[in-house]
Amino acid sequence: MSKTKILVTGGTGYIGSHAAVELIQAGYEVEILDNLYNSKIEVLGRIEEITGVKPRFYDVDLRDAEALAKVFAENKFDAVIHFAGLKAVGESVEQPLRYYENNVGGTVNLLECMEEYGVKRIVFSSSATVYGVQESPKYVESMKTGGEISSPYGKTKYMIEEILKDTATADPEFSATILRYFNPVGAHPSGLLGEDPNDKPNNLMPIIMKVATGEIAELSVYGDDYPTPDGTCIRDYIHVVDLAKGHLAALDKMDEGVQIYNLGSGHGTSVAEIVKAFNIASGMELPYRVVARRAGDLAEFFADPTLAAEKLGWKTELSIGDAMRDTLNYLEKQGLSLRQ
Ligand code: NAD
Ligand code: WQD
Repeated sequence: MSKTKILVTGGTGYIGSHAAVELIQAGYEVEILDNLYNSKIEVLGRIEEITGVKPRFYDVDLRDAEALAKVFAENKFDAVIHFAGLKAVGESVEQPLRYYENNVGGTVNLLECMEEYGVKRIVFSSSATVYGVQESPKYVESMKTGGEISSPYGKTKYMIEEILKDTATADPEFSATILRYFNPVGAHPSGLLGEDPNDKPNNLMPIIMKVATGEIAELSVYGDDYPTPDGTCIRDYIHVVDLAKGHLAALDKMDEGVQIYNLGSGHGTSVAEIVKAFNIASGMELPYRVVARRAGDLAEFFADPTLAAEKLGWKTELSIGDAMRDTLNYLEKQGLSLRQ
């Protein structure tokens, strides 16, 4: 019997590469499409080192409809997992059109190809950011989305979710699973895959990695006067391997129409607790300074992961400590040493 063939867009990126590994290890045939804007071709060799399989790769930009159609013409994909997109929140405020063109425009091209070539299933990387501001910090899938989303990046995720719903309404055979990620952290336990520390960091963990190696002098903690127990913001950090496994569960359990799941641990962790966990795992004292709040930050939010547990049989298994250990191992394997 031939293997189920999956197109992974953004598959050389941080989350996509981990998902590619899990898919290959579960017996799927994986092909990766990426324009390498925010990832490196070496990732393919790393995936091969871990799994023994080097996925076929297309250096294609989703905005290039002609090149994309060629990929679909050459293959019969059973499903698409769609990670490709720009993700820097601050940058999206400065360059909104670029974000709408890349994320929304790229997805429309992808969906058009899927329609033309009869590919009916997609799993999409959405984000907890689509919840915007809610009455409760515990986000449930049934909450209304789209209100007070703080960035154009977040709005692209909301818009794509709506586009997927409309596509499913128009075509009863089309099905989409929307996965709303909370805050991905950690690295592959092999130390071969992780969030590339060479890139300009935007999120907390990549910045901590650069502070740990001495490339950045200190961590700026954005505010300690929030209404939380230690005054720093609370988020739901999820190990990237747990997150990757959520995609397997989503593919295995694809249903008719549109399904939406939170992928988070259900537990909130503060910035101060993250720093403490990093110090325990590394044995170093991460230098930090409390600075003013960052515009748009919410004091606290975390996932209600009940639906994913019930319907997908998925829940997180790894801890913040595991994420710190794997991040440190990844740094070491990249030849980066911790500051003295
Ligand atoms: P990443 O930047 O590491 O990976 C995204 C990949 O998409 C990159 O390899 C990039 O080169 C590629 N890409 C971007 N635009 C493209 C285009 N037009 N055509 C082809 N390839 C393109 O990011 P990630 O952290 O792995 O995130 C993957 C997905 O998950 C993104 O859609 C992101 O918005 C979403 N997400 C990420 C987080 C997070 O904190 N990392 C949280 C929630 C959702
Ligand atoms: C985490 C916490 C900061 C940097 C963003 C997107 C969201 C999703 C994940 C894609 C916050 C604090 C951070 C620093 C700090 N991405 N912090 N000093 O803002 O929760 O979510 O990434 O979909 O959509 O909005 O993640 O990693 O930027 O911040 O104190 O130098 O760390 O205030 O509380 P965030 P983050």
